[in-house]
Amino acid sequence: MSVVRINAISVPAERAEELEQRFAARAGEVAKSPGFEAFELLRPADGRDVYLVYTRWATQADFDAWVQSPAFAHGHRAHNTEGPVSSHSELWAYDVVQSEGPA
Ligand code: HEM
Repeated sequence: MSVVRINAISVPAERAEELEQRFAARAGEVAKSPGFEAFELLRPADGRDVYLVYTRWATQADFDAWVQSPAFAHGHRAHNTEGPVSSHSELWAYDVVQSEGPA
Protein backbone atom coordinates (compact mmCIF):
# COMPACT_ATOMS: atom_id res chain seq x y z
CA MET A 1 0.00 0.00 0.00
CA SER A 2 1.04 3.60 -0.54
CA VAL A 3 2.55 5.97 1.98
CA VAL A 4 1.26 9.44 2.83
CA ARG A 5 3.68 12.18 3.82
CA ILE A 6 2.19 15.44 4.98
CA ASN A 7 4.03 18.69 5.60
CA ALA A 8 1.95 20.54 8.21
CA ILE A 9 2.83 24.22 8.06
CA SER A 10 1.68 26.90 10.48
CA VAL A 11 1.03 30.14 8.62
CA PRO A 12 -0.01 33.39 10.31
CA ALA A 13 -3.36 34.58 8.86
CA GLU A 14 -1.76 37.66 7.33
CA ARG A 15 0.60 35.48 5.27
CA ALA A 16 -1.90 32.82 4.14
CA GLU A 17 -2.51 34.53 0.81
CA GLU A 18 1.22 34.73 0.16
CA LEU A 19 1.56 31.02 0.88
CA GLU A 20 -1.24 30.17 -1.55
CA GLN A 21 0.35 32.39 -4.18
CA ARG A 22 3.64 30.59 -3.80
CA PHE A 23 1.90 27.28 -4.35
CA ALA A 24 -0.05 28.73 -7.28
CA ALA A 25 3.34 29.44 -8.85
CA ARG A 26 4.84 26.13 -7.72
CA ALA A 27 7.35 24.27 -9.80
CA GLY A 28 5.12 21.27 -10.52
CA GLU A 29 8.20 19.06 -10.46
CA VAL A 30 6.84 16.73 -7.84
CA ALA A 31 4.44 15.03 -10.25
CA LYS A 32 7.36 13.93 -12.43
CA SER A 33 9.09 12.11 -9.59
CA PRO A 34 9.08 8.28 -9.66
CA GLY A 35 6.46 6.79 -7.35
CA PHE A 36 4.49 10.04 -7.05
CA GLU A 37 0.76 9.42 -6.68
CA ALA A 38 -0.93 12.58 -5.38
CA PHE A 39 -0.49 16.11 -4.08
CA GLU A 40 -3.01 18.42 -2.43
CA LEU A 41 -2.60 21.76 -0.71
CA LEU A 42 -5.22 21.81 2.04
CA ARG A 43 -6.36 25.14 3.49
CA PRO A 44 -7.69 25.05 7.07
CA ALA A 45 -11.46 25.57 7.16
CA ASP A 46 -11.99 25.37 10.92
CA GLY A 47 -10.06 28.35 12.22
CA ARG A 48 -6.70 26.60 12.56
CA ASP A 49 -3.59 28.20 11.13
CA VAL A 50 -2.10 24.93 9.84
CA TYR A 51 -2.05 24.25 6.11
CA LEU A 52 -1.42 20.64 5.06
CA VAL A 53 0.69 19.75 2.05
CA TYR A 54 -0.58 16.23 1.36
CA THR A 55 1.55 13.91 -0.75
CA ARG A 56 1.09 10.19 -1.51
CA TRP A 57 3.82 7.89 -2.81
CA ALA A 58 4.14 4.28 -3.90
CA THR A 59 6.89 3.65 -1.33
CA GLN A 60 8.87 5.38 1.41
CA ALA A 61 11.96 5.07 -0.81
CA ASP A 62 10.21 7.08 -3.54
CA PHE A 63 9.43 9.86 -1.07
CA ASP A 64 13.00 9.85 0.29
CA ALA A 65 14.42 10.01 -3.23
CA TRP A 66 12.23 13.03 -4.07
CA VAL A 67 13.26 14.87 -0.87
CA GLN A 68 16.92 14.36 -1.81
CA SER A 69 16.44 15.28 -5.48
CA PRO A 70 17.07 18.56 -7.31
CA ALA A 71 13.30 18.58 -8.01
CA PHE A 72 12.64 19.06 -4.29
CA ALA A 73 15.14 21.93 -4.08
CA HIS A 74 13.62 23.46 -7.19
CA GLY A 75 10.11 23.04 -5.75
CA HIS A 76 11.23 25.00 -2.67
CA ARG A 77 13.15 27.70 -4.47
CA ALA A 78 11.00 30.61 -3.29
CA HIS A 79 11.02 29.21 0.22
CA ASN A 80 14.80 29.02 0.09
CA THR A 81 15.50 32.37 -1.56
CA GLU A 82 12.72 34.58 -0.20
CA GLY A 83 12.47 33.02 3.23
CA PRO A 84 9.71 31.00 4.85
CA VAL A 85 6.08 32.09 4.93
CA SER A 86 5.44 29.66 7.76
CA SER A 87 6.27 30.03 11.43
CA HIS A 88 6.60 26.26 11.98
CA SER A 89 6.50 23.03 9.99
CA GLU A 90 6.18 19.36 10.86
CA LEU A 91 6.43 16.25 8.71
CA TRP A 92 3.66 13.73 9.40
CA ALA A 93 4.09 10.16 8.08
CA TYR A 94 1.18 7.76 7.52
CA ASP A 95 0.79 4.42 5.78
CA VAL A 96 -2.35 3.83 3.75
CA VAL A 97 -4.25 0.93 5.32
CA GLN A 98 -7.43 1.15 3.25
CA SER A 99 -8.47 3.36 0.39
CA GLU A 100 -11.52 3.80 -1.81
CA GLY A 101 -12.56 6.24 -4.52
CA PRO A 102 -15.89 6.75 -6.27
CA ALA A 103 -17.59 3.50 -7.31
C1 HEM B 1 10.90 23.16 6.20
C2 HEM B 1 9.86 22.49 5.71
C3 HEM B 1 9.04 22.98 4.55
C4 HEM B 1 8.42 24.19 4.35
C5 HEM B 1 8.36 25.39 5.29
C6 HEM B 1 7.77 24.12 3.05
C7 HEM B 1 7.04 25.14 2.43
C8 HEM B 1 6.75 25.15 1.07
C9 HEM B 1 6.39 26.30 0.27
C10 HEM B 1 6.21 27.73 0.82
C11 HEM B 1 6.21 25.87 -1.01
C12 HEM B 1 5.78 26.72 -2.23
C13 HEM B 1 6.99 26.95 -3.14
C14 HEM B 1 8.02 27.86 -2.47
O1 HEM B 1 7.66 28.84 -1.79
O2 HEM B 1 9.24 27.58 -2.66
C15 HEM B 1 6.44 24.45 -1.03
C16 HEM B 1 6.35 23.60 -2.12
C17 HEM B 1 6.06 22.24 -1.96
N1 HEM B 1 6.26 21.53 -0.81
FE1 HEM B 1 7.14 22.20 0.82
N2 HEM B 1 7.96 22.87 2.53
C18 HEM B 1 8.73 22.15 3.40
C19 HEM B 1 9.09 20.81 3.27
C20 HEM B 1 8.28 19.94 2.53
C21 HEM B 1 8.14 18.51 2.73
C22 HEM B 1 8.88 17.67 3.77
C23 HEM B 1 7.20 18.08 1.83
C24 HEM B 1 6.64 16.69 1.67
C25 HEM B 1 5.45 16.36 2.15
C26 HEM B 1 6.79 19.23 1.03
C27 HEM B 1 5.90 19.22 -0.04
C28 HEM B 1 5.85 20.23 -0.99
C29 HEM B 1 5.35 20.09 -2.35
C30 HEM B 1 4.77 18.83 -2.97
C31 HEM B 1 5.50 21.35 -2.96
C32 HEM B 1 5.18 21.71 -4.43
C33 HEM B 1 6.47 21.40 -5.23
C34 HEM B 1 6.25 21.19 -6.71
O3 HEM B 1 5.23 21.60 -7.25
O4 HEM B 1 7.15 20.58 -7.35
N3 HEM B 1 7.45 20.32 1.50
N4 HEM B 1 6.75 24.04 0.26
